[in-house]
Amino acid sequence: MLERIDKIIGNQTGISRNEIHKMIKNKKVKVNDKVVVSPKEKYDSSKDNIYIDDELLVISKYVYLVLNKPKGYVSATIDHYEKTVLDLVPESYQNRHLFPAGRLDKDTTGFLLLTDDGIFAHNILSPKKHIKKKYYVIIDSIITNDMIDGFSNGIILDGEKCKSSILEKIDDNSCYVTLTEGKYHQIKRMFQSFGASVLELKRVSMGSLELPSDLALGECRELTKDEVYLITH
Ligand code: URA
Repeated sequence: MLERIDKIIGNQTGISRNEIHKMIKNKKVKVNDKVVVSPKEKYDSSKDNIYIDDELLVISKYVYLVLNKPKGYVSATIDHYEKTVLDLVPESYQNRHLFPAGRLDKDTTGFLLLTDDGIFAHNILSPKKHIKKKYYVIIDSIITNDMIDGFSNGIILDGEKCKSSILEKIDDNSCYVTLTEGKYHQIKRMFQSFGASVLELKRVSMGSLELPSDLALGECRELTKDEVYLITH
């Protein structure tokens, strides 16, 4: 796929567009044997060799998008009745076989990772890897110490004990909940075990990577290598 050289370098390195434009102006960027003269030049990162200061840029062959999921979309690639999160991905990625790494319920908002890297997706979802997923939650009743202790000890759902989770109270009805696994409707069911209903649920971070604050609901963007790294650290 042909893309602007400043976009390719920005996505792979996290270097700002301004900085990349300066590097191009100073003739520090080459593609194959040719010095790049304009940030608008287009190349195919899967075929062309890109050099910065004569050092080969190692290109990741996978794509990682963060989506700020709105309500009303299901976390699937195809659905015959509902809108899917793939409907929110720009046309230019539609040939990439992206899928959501994990599910958010139809009425849950926030951080959803879309990728074509199956191994990475498997790793971040595996409870064995202990990747933290943090949610902002509003419930219909007062958050009690019993809930905080119960979440920490591990709630039993359908006879199966959940892993220990962290409930950080913000005020009477709102809190953050951090999970390291993702059972079906887990947070809703954990609160239901105390007779409480979840009114709002938003995933705010995965690993050490927060949902970018400038990403509007329904928008997605590519993650840089450094940001992908933060998900697992
Ligand atoms: N827990 C839930 O109940 N729903 C989600 O979408 C995510 C976690």
